[in-house]
Amino acid sequence: MRHLYLHVPFCPTICPYCDFHVVRRGPGLVERYLERLEAEAAELFNRRPGPLATLYLGGGTPSYLRDRELARLYAALPWTLAPGAEVTLEANPGTLTPARLERLRALGVNRLSLGVQSFQDPVLARLGRAHKGQGALRAVEEALEAGFRVSVDLILGLPGQDVKADLETAAALGVGHVSAYTLQVEPGTPFALAGLEPDPDREAEAFAAARAVLGRAGMVRYEVSNFARPGEEARHNLAYWRMLEWGGLGPAASAHFLTPAGPGVAERRTNPPLPRWAAGEPPARETIAPLEHVKEGLMMGLRLREGVDLAALARQSGLAGLDRALSPAVGRLEAEGLIERAGVRLRPNQAGLDRLHAALLPLWEALEAAYPPDRLA
Ligand SMILES: C[S@@+](CC[C@H](N)C(=O)[O-])C[C@H]1O[C@@H](n2cnc3c(N)ncnc32)[C@H](O)[C@@H]1O
Ligand code: SF4
Repeated sequence: MRHLYLHVPFCPTICPYCDFHVVRRGPGLVERYLERLEAEAAELFNRRPGPLATLYLGGGTPSYLRDRELARLYAALPWTLAPGAEVTLEANPGTLTPARLERLRALGVNRLSLGVQSFQDPVLARLGRAHKGQGALRAVEEALEAGFRVSVDLILGLPGQDVKADLETAAALGVGHVSAYTLQVEPGTPFALAGLEPDPDREAEAFAAARAVLGRAGMVRYEVSNFARPGEEARHNLAYWRMLEWGGLGPAASAHFLTPAGPGVAERRTNPPLPRWAAGEPPARETIAPLEHVKEGLMMGLRLREGVDLAALARQSGLAGLDRALSPAVGRLEAEGLIERAGVRLRPNQAGLDRLHAALLPLWEALEAAYPPDRLA
């Protein structure tokens, strides 16, 4: 196992649009979390010792943990890191100070993913964020000065937002990576209950602006929502999109292991939410059948500009005639200008990245027609 995700569910406040597994701190809650984490990490390490090429501390807000809690969390991880390993920590701008940054460096964190969302105060207020634009600017600058690789998260296409200004600010700061999302209004969140709806036209414009502004700063759209200077890509997230193996620790974390000798091609393990996880409940296990693996591989791989390796999917899944089954649909999508073939790879072009579903659905339909369940049984 070369990639490990660790979920830290605690946040100072819960944002009205957030659908991640997050909780406020409560008496004894962090203590119980750390105790369970120590046991879970020791158990996973016995089965999958590493060394790790990437470690991702995500959340929630890992930077909201206190120094001694972060140190204990780190000490709970027995893995060694491979040379040049990427260690990312997700942080809210308001939780960072120069002293804090120094301690994070000393722990071994070398990449920060900062939840900026916007540099504009009225937009931040509408999102219910605790920080202001100035605070976000300062956090990015201090993180860069402290020697971290820095990624900035932006949410684009929000009402009242000057999208170009936000993008230009991020680019001018000199960060190597920007994650540009559009607002997802997830059922049950306060934003959904308030009847908020995304505006697809405004979002499409926002993405065109992102390509132009970030492109001028030397950043390439290497994934649907992610832009990076060459070499600054998120190596951990690439492992997800390339469908490699990764382990997961913490409540609601999921893991993906390839199981060539097992009943399926892969296994997904998903931890229960905090109370049940802390009580020791094991992860739910799901066997990924060959067809599902190929569908997932296409869905993840077509998010990437580098595309997906069809030969690898055929090998991993054992599905005979995969290339032949997909060929007519690929031809049509090529003619529509959504994807292109490059040797064994299928790559989305810009239009394909913009219209992922349009590129993906015909391929899934071709798979379902070629491999009906009775033929696979
Ligand atoms: C898991 S959050 C963790 C980062 C950190 N807690 C924060 O919010 O600053 C990672 C990123 O997901 C994005 N995000 C979260 N909820 C979203 C939503 N409903 N729509 C679009 N992006 C969202 C935000 O850009 C956020 O920075
Ligand atoms: S701070 Fe980040 S993880 Fe926490 S509630 Fe807000 S968006 Fe979600």
